[in-house]
Formats: sequence, structure tokens, C-alpha cells
Amino acid sequence: MNIELNEEFWTERYKNHETGWNIGYASTPLVKYFDTLEDRSIKILIPGAGNAYEAEYLFSKGFKNVTVVDISILPLQNLSERFPEFPKDQLIHQNFFDHYDQYDLIVEQTFFCAIDPELRQAYANKMLDLLKDNGKIIGVWFDFEADPEKSGPPFTGTAEEYETYFNSFKSVKFQRCYNSVPPRSGRELFGIIKK
Ligand SMILES: C[S@@+](CC[C@H](N)C(=O)[O-])C[C@H]1O[C@@H](n2cnc3c(N)ncnc32)[C@H](O)[C@@H]1O
Repeated sequence: MNIELNEEFWTERYKNHETGWNIGYASTPLVKYFDTLEDRSIKILIPGAGNAYEAEYLFSKGFKNVTVVDISILPLQNLSERFPEFPKDQLIHQNFFDHYDQYDLIVEQTFFCAIDPELRQAYANKMLDLLKDNGKIIGVWFDFEADPEKSGPPFTGTAEEYETYFNSFKSVKFQRCYNSVPPRSGRELFGIIKK
């Protein structure tokens, strides 16, 4: 691939307001899932979280153990300004692949599709390391064929392809998402991947 998807690339996107992925509120399928969780002490990671409306939602619902990681500092600053109660030490400006800790739950939304497709297996391996035993990844994945005219993200795919990366997990389930935000309706899968 001829574009380097590094910190500079993403920071430029934020600076130039080229952030078509930014919903502006916590994503409905994720909120629906969060609302089923009873244990508010679980340790949650949101990698490539961007403006992280989901972190704000979780925190305000009493999930205090939420960590946000992003390679660009700008969305982390946006979250801090918008929601100053969110602890600064839980906002981590870092490459996901350099992050070390262990979580009960990792939340995916338009991060997998933002990384170079050649790193998809490395993403799955890193997720395995970041999860505690019986931990899981939940979230939304795009479900449509790549546009051959486009060379940059989002990089899309299918459930059949995605499943191949998670062979080392206990279970992998991708289903058509029934409650996507309107622009993503019919184009998104809900995934639950258990370690
Ligand atoms: C398409 S945006 C999605 C943001 C957010 N998940 C959302 O749904 O609004 C991708 C995000 O991943 C971040 N990112 C890209 N590569 C990363 C990496 N290797 N480690 C951490 N964050 C990364 C970008 O800075 C950007 O905020």
C-alpha cells in the first residue's frame, strides 16, 4: 500500500475535519450491548477510539474502568474537552500495537477497517494478548466489498474473511447488525469474539 497509515495521516484527517467515520454520539449497537452488562467493574479497552463517544457513555453509566487508546492526540483532547470528568490517565496516546495490559472487554468500531489489511492477523493476535482469559471483543465490522477505485481506508471485507483471523479464540460470531446507525444500515456486522 502506498499510503502510510501513521500518526501524521490520522492527525491530518482530524485537523482537516475529514472524519466521515465520526458519528457524533455513542453508536446504537454498542450502546444496546453495553446496556446488557451488569458488572460495572469490568476493565474495558476502546482502541482506535477516535472521539470516543462510547467511552463517555460507558463512564457516565458507571463503568469507571475504561481505557481509550488512539495514535492521534487530537481526538483524545476532544474527549477531554467535551467530558472533563474522564480520567486523563485512561486516555492513552499510543499505537495500539504498542499497548500492553489485560482487559475483560475490548470494543471495536471502525478501527479494524482503519488499519492496513496486511495487519489484520497482527490485530487479532494483539487482541488475544490484550484479553484476559474469557475476555471478549465485541463491536461492529463493515460488511461490504472494497471499492476498487479507493486506495485508503476504510478497508472492508466479509464475515468469512474476518473469521479466519480469529482461529485462536474460543468462539467467533459475526451476524448482520439489525440496529446500525442509519448510514451503516445493512452494511455492518455485529461481532462477538471470545478468548
Ligand atoms: C476511522 S477512525 C475511527 C474512530 C472511532 N473508532 C470511531 O468510530 O469514531 C480510526 C481511528 O483509529 C486511530 N488509529 C489508527 N491506527 C491506529 C493505531 N495503530 N493505534 C491506535 N489508534 C489508531 C485513528 O487515529 C482514528 O482515530
